[in-house]
Amino acid sequence: MYVPDPKRYDSMQYRRSGRSGILLPAISLGLWHNFGGVDNFENARAMLRRAFDLGITHFDLANNYGPPYGSAEENFGQILKKDFLPYRDELVISTKAGWDMWPGPYGNLGSRKYILASLDQSLKRMGLPYVDIFYHHRPDPDTPMEESLGALDTAVRSGRAIYAGISAYNAQQTAEAIKIMRSLGTPLLIHQPKYSMLVRDPEQGLLDVLGSEGVGCIVFSPLAQGLLSDRYLQGIPSDSRAARDFFLKKTDIDEKKVSMLRALNGVAQQRGQSFAEMAVAWVLRDPRVTSALVGTSKVSQVDDNVAALKNLKFSAEELKKIDEILAGKQSAA
Ligand SMILES: NC(=O)c1ccc[n+]([C@@H]2O[C@H](COP(=O)([O-])OP(=O)(O)OC[C@H]3O[C@@H](n4cnc5c(N)ncnc54)[C@H](OP(=O)(O)O)[C@@H]3O)[C@@H](O)[C@H]2O)c1
Repeated sequence: MYVPDPKRYDSMQYRRSGRSGILLPAISLGLWHNFGGVDNFENARAMLRRAFDLGITHFDLANNYGPPYGSAEENFGQILKKDFLPYRDELVISTKAGWDMWPGPYGNLGSRKYILASLDQSLKRMGLPYVDIFYHHRPDPDTPMEESLGALDTAVRSGRAIYAGISAYNAQQTAEAIKIMRSLGTPLLIHQPKYSMLVRDPEQGLLDVLGSEGVGCIVFSPLAQGLLSDRYLQGIPSDSRAARDFFLKKTDIDEKKVSMLRALNGVAQQRGQSFAEMAVAWVLRDPRVTSALVGTSKVSQVDDNVAALKNLKFSAEELKKIDEILAGKQSAA
């Protein structure tokens, strides 16, 4: 029987999601990769246990995480039943709908029909009566925003979700979504954008909107899928995401990129952190970022990412150096 560490709340930091009542761990764990039907179930279970033992109270899923689609939710449901059900009220569990899930015109994008049917399927797979956060996974340019967001409002009002979130909406769409959700009476809790040293888009207005409107921000792929770690400094390991050459391509890792990664690794070393720790700390340096949503393939990576919290402060000089390296103005010493 799994008995969580009684000290699990001693060192994790919790940050308020915007101006809401909910606190999220500064580090959250996502189940996009390594939790599917093709993956090692006991490894997935061990990573979730270790995460919870370290105070990670938030696990993030989506309808189509796997592969195959749906299988991360199924596995999570099993692990929940075996290990976490007594602690359900200590957990924030999220899922999403918005990308391709089932065939035909009602299994993708942003119709009310798709979003609500997908949530029902997700709940069934996880064996849950409700999720804590339900997201629209991406904006659908062909569906009125009122319809997609109205479905989130229904999800909350019907008790199938506690809070509503959006992902991948740009700054302008987000400002509009915030207004619509407020008018519906279900304020938007959180936005989930991609953000890392290598992907800076949220700095072009989105973080400003979220900050001024009091909406939380949980950033995904803070390690740029593993690029911002020591994983690829000496080639492409056979057990890495890039070796699978699908979501992270081998061609993303050329000599120029590796030289930049080595230079960033040098800054991390000077800070006394691992490269992964520095990448996580870097997104959390902005107080508008509620949580860094990491993925992991091994228990040791959960530990390493949480260790980032030991040093979240960057000097102006360090930030400048990082920016210069990213701009290609400095390379490895
Ligand atoms: N809203 C959206 O549209 C969206 C899109 C993508 C992801 N997400 C969410 O964000 C979560 C995280 O995304 P992500 O997996 O791309 O995040 P990530 O943290 O940037 O990358 C995770 C990968 O980095 C490597 N890694 C992690 N910690 C490491 C460490 N300490 N040292 C060395 N390597 C390390 C591992 O790669 P190896 O497998 O190679 O070991 C791991 O699988 C997802 O699970 C999902 O919940 C949301």
